Amino acid sequence: MSILKVARMGHPVLRTRTRPLDVGEVKSARIQQLIDDMFETMAEYEGVGLAAPQVHQSVRLFVAGFTPGPDDDAEHERVPLMALINPEITIEAPEIIEDWEGCLSIPDIRGKVPRARQIVVRALDRRGKRVELVAKGFTARVIQHETDHLDGVLFFDRMKDFQSLTFLEEFSRYASGRSEVVPAE
Ligand code: NI
Repeated sequence: MSILKVARMGHPVLRTRTRPLDVGEVKSARIQQLIDDMFETMAEYEGVGLAAPQVHQSVRLFVAGFTPGPDDDAEHERVPLMALINPEITIEAPEIIEDWEGCLSIPDIRGKVPRARQIVVRALDRRGKRVELVAKGFTARVIQHETDHLDGVLFFDRMKDFQSLTFLEEFSRYASGRSEVVPAE
């Protein structure tokens, strides 16, 4: 396993649409290694999600997962560990929630992003099996953020306006009602 270098905003790989993987490729040693390395990289940087373009691989794959620590507020519910390939999102309900996001490719910045509250995602898992999951709240937000990465979209692109853009240090001091760090994706 290795910790991979994370591409930062401005690197063209983050603005490139990724290519899908077929089942044979998903099962290949190269992609299995990439998935393991992405989980390790995500843990190293304390992220809640990481998409392949963020580690300079332009393929349709992301990993996610988050276990709240004892100091985390209840709003950050657990995100199950997942590696999803070729995800396709369907929005389940019209309700849109605006909440804070961060991104490992845009270090130390947080901003409020509107996202669908509930989605269905269809994808392949790391064994190449078709999976379908219904996700709500923070998990739905993370999946939407990561799937955007696979289309070359960053969270700034989804913001209604930039009034909420905040450096992490100021976020911790001033963002109302939140004393916790929002994990980056
Ligand atoms: Ni991100």
